Amino acid sequence: MAPSAFVDYQRLEAGLQAHLGRHAAVACRSTDGDVSTLAPIERPAIARAIPHRRKEFAAGRSAAREAMQRLGRPVTSIPVQHDRSPQWPADLVGSISHSRETCISVVALKSHWNAVGVDVEPDQDLPRELWNLIGLPNEIWRASALSRAVQARWMTRIFSAKEAYYKWAYPQTSCMLNFHDVEIVMDPTMESTEFSAHPLNWQDNGVLPELLTGRLMIDQGMVISLLIQ
Ligand SMILES: CC(C)(COP(=O)(O)OP(=O)(O)OC[C@H]1O[C@@H](n2cnc3c(N)ncnc32)[C@H](O)[C@@H]1OP(=O)(O)O)[C@@H](O)C(=O)NCCC(=O)NCCS
Repeated sequence: MAPSAFVDYQRLEAGLQAHLGRHAAVACRSTDGDVSTLAPIERPAIARAIPHRRKEFAAGRSAAREAMQRLGRPVTSIPVQHDRSPQWPADLVGSISHSRETCISVVALKSHWNAVGVDVEPDQDLPRELWNLIGLPNEIWRASALSRAVQARWMTRIFSAKEAYYKWAYPQTSCMLNFHDVEIVMDPTMESTEFSAHPLNWQDNGVLPELLTGRLMIDQGMVISLLIQ
């Protein structure tokens, strides 16, 4: 399904906020952000970027600041670190994602949450040639329980869950993960609203839990994966 031309951001926010509780806040908006609202310390990151990237970056910062405000926290700049991850204020954790049209940011109190990861993708097919790159044999095997017509869309959900997982794990480990480092387990039905993420070799890491439960939301032509713990 193609993303809706008109996105009801309030509805999207309400759906996501329901999974967050009061120590975390979400803000969603169009990727058509206003670059002039960026703080000077944020600007070098997009100095040479194409216009769409500059706008989506500004939209991400703007959404993150709105989420900070909703949490009752001071609004700050969010510089880009050397590894491209956002540098959140010391008392917060957060995550940003954009699809072509929509940007989402979730910010949470570090006193209550270790990290948060969010990802948004269009609710569309994952091209067949990417399945083996993204999916583990078990994940592709589970997809085969679905009708052929929806398998590729279901694989997009696996992809999105892994992207959210990466954003959740990275701030705690500083480790690059590839798509075969984490197994996503989700009921093979298009109605699934939950998934679990199992890092393989989690024992080696000492930080990552063996299992983490995440939320999957399908809304207005988008797949949104959310992990908070
Ligand atoms: C970082 C990454 C996950 C971003 O995903 P994406 O689909 O390209 O883009 P999204 O819009 O969803 O997310 C981009 C945002 O992620 C955030 N981000 C970038 N690097 C990050 C990191 N190391 N940790 C946490 N967040 C990060 C940034 O906020 C960025 O937006 P911004 O540059 O405007 O601030 C992806 O580019 C990547 O490098 N993936 C590594 C491989 C991977 O995903 N493995 C999964 C294994 S489980």
